[in-house]
Formats: sequence, C-alpha cells, structure tokens
Amino acid sequence: MTTTCIPIKNVGSDADSHRFPLDQWYVAGFSSELADKPIARTFLNRKVVLFRTGAGQVAALEDRCCHRSLPLSCGTVEGAGVRCGYHGLLYAPNGQCIEIPGQERIPSKARVKAYPVVEKNQIIWIWMARDEDAEPTRPAPDYPFHDDPRYKFGSGNYHYRSPWQLIHDNLLDLSHLGYVHLQTIGGDARLHMNAPMKVSSEGDRVKVVRLMPDSSPPPTYRAAWPFGEKCERWQEIEFDLTHLRIWTGAVEPGTDAIDDPDRGGFHMRGFHGITPETEETCHYFWSMSSTKHPDMPDNIDAVIQQTAFTFDEDRTIIEAQYRNMLAFGDKANWIDIHVDAGANRARRIVGELLRKQAAAEAADS
Ligand code: FES
Ligand SMILES: [Fe+2]
Repeated sequence: MTTTCIPIKNVGSDADSHRFPLDQWYVAGFSSELADKPIARTFLNRKVVLFRTGAGQVAALEDRCCHRSLPLSCGTVEGAGVRCGYHGLLYAPNGQCIEIPGQERIPSKARVKAYPVVEKNQIIWIWMARDEDAEPTRPAPDYPFHDDPRYKFGSGNYHYRSPWQLIHDNLLDLSHLGYVHLQTIGGDARLHMNAPMKVSSEGDRVKVVRLMPDSSPPPTYRAAWPFGEKCERWQEIEFDLTHLRIWTGAVEPGTDAIDDPDRGGFHMRGFHGITPETEETCHYFWSMSSTKHPDMPDNIDAVIQQTAFTFDEDRTIIEAQYRNMLAFGDKANWIDIHVDAGANRARRIVGELLRKQAAAEAADS
C-alpha cells in the first residue's frame, strides 16, 4: 500500500489550543473520508492523525511516533491500528504501541496521546479537552438528518485561510445571499436585507430566524422544485459553538405556513462544522441534505452541486476579507449594522467561554 506523507504545517505548541474553547466536541471529518489511509489534520493547533482500523473503529492519535517523531500519518493503516512508516511501530486506537518489529519487549512509555472520537450520523467528532487526559463530559451532538430517509445528502470540506469565527459571521447572517449567491440561492437583495430577523439564545446556542414571504425563487430553488413565480422562504440558523445547523427552504404560496416546522415544500438542511486549525486557519466541513420531488428525480444532485458552488463563493469572499483585515489591521474599525445581531451574539458567547477558560486556568496555576 502506498501512502502520501503530508508535509508538516507550521503550527503552534499544544498550549496554543487554549486560545479556543475547550471541552468541546469538534468536527474532525465525515465518515466517508476515512477509508484505508491515515489522514493528517491539525485541530486547535494540535496535530492529529485520524484512521479507521480493519475492524472499522475510528481513532485519533497525536500525529507523532514516540520513537523518532515521524508523523504517524506518513504510515499505513492495518487491521489493528496504524503502523509508523519509519521503523514499523504499530499503534492501537488507544495510542498504545502494540508491536515493535524485531523486539519482544514493548516499553510502557511506548504510547502516544489518543483523543476521544465518536462516529455518529456519518460525522466524526473529536473531543478537545482542557485537561489533556479528561474524558468527554457529554455525548457528541446528534445530527439525525444524515440518516433520515426523507433526505439525501452530499458533503465536502474546505481548508480556509481565515480564522474560524469569520465563517460563523457569514453563516449567521444570510443577508449576504442577495449579493454573493445570485447564481444559486440568492434572490432579491432588498428582500433579504429587509426581512425581519428574530435572534434568540439559550446557553451557548444562538438561533436566527428570517421569514421571506413573496420571494422570487432563486436558481437553485427553481432547479430543485417546480415553483411558480413566487415562493415563501424561511431561514432558520442554529449556532452551536462547534457547528451550525441551517434549515432553509420554501413552500408554494397558499400551501403550508412557512413557520410550521412540519411544512412541506423544498428543504435544504445544511450542516456546517467549523473547526479551528490555527488562529489564522480553519476547517469547514459541510453537508447539504435536501428533499426529493417526485417529478424531478435529479433535483437533490443539482442542489448539492449548486451548494458546492455557493460555498466556493463564500470562501472567496471570506479569504479576501481576512487578507484585507491583515492588510488594514484586524477589526478594530468595524461598524455594526442590523444584520450582525446573530453573529455578534455568537462572538459574545465564544468570548465569554474563553474568558471563563482563562480564569479557570489562572486559578489552576
Ligand atoms: S520513527 Fe516511528 S518507528 Fe521509528
Ligand atoms: Fe454564503
């Protein structure tokens, strides 16, 4: 089996992970990504190798062999674990070395850190703890729509050259659709900007709801559903710190109420896992689940294709925004407008978590 050894990225020390909210389940990837090769990813400045054993178990280890520090992601996956590509040490999913070729005795220190991982609803979650050896204090989030027969989903991921919170800002304010996504899910920019927005929060969660009756169906909606001249659109965004769930769609006028959770019509359920890589980069794992229409058999494929195009547009905007922030000096001179209410609330939540975390660390030291 041949593997590609991925170049080491310049990342900070393990202590740098404390610049992000810890004791959280972050998205590490999708089930479909883990086949017969290890994957190297950096989460919160920690270098991790992800792999799936021959028995199907998903594991996440520190990406460093304890013998001479080769990244384990340069090695190969075997039935029982991952084998280092330098001198062949074999590691089990719990990080313990279980074989040293040519040597009987395995030193007790021959182990690497293992991260708690859970594979649930086709998503791989990794627990990033403040106290390195602490076990998860709550179950990984549910996302049942990947396994819901009413939907079909497609997924993808991006590596972003921007801090993770710029993606939160973008997703919590869908008014940008009328300017950035005119070729797919956009529509009338004025309608988006004027739509009343309801922002609420509970604990570390934020919810933003916008209803847009009397909309003109944008291209993706027309490609997926036989709308007439008008449709009634809804947008429901739920921010949950490490991921967002965005439920958008439209009903035909005169059918179901747009604020009825059991409404029919055309649905797009987006999953957005945003995991910091470093202070300046992040991973964006997305999926889109949509509803079938009996007369349009290929409609979901069209939605997924157009979603990927849409998210390419977002990346272009957000990375350009961040380059300019660096050129002009961060966000000190930003002004806020009405559409920022949800994003600002999410920023306050992240800020508060980091303040509490810093206080707890100060108290511990
Ligand atoms: S560096 Fe991994 S076995 Fe030697
Ligand atoms: Fe967008």
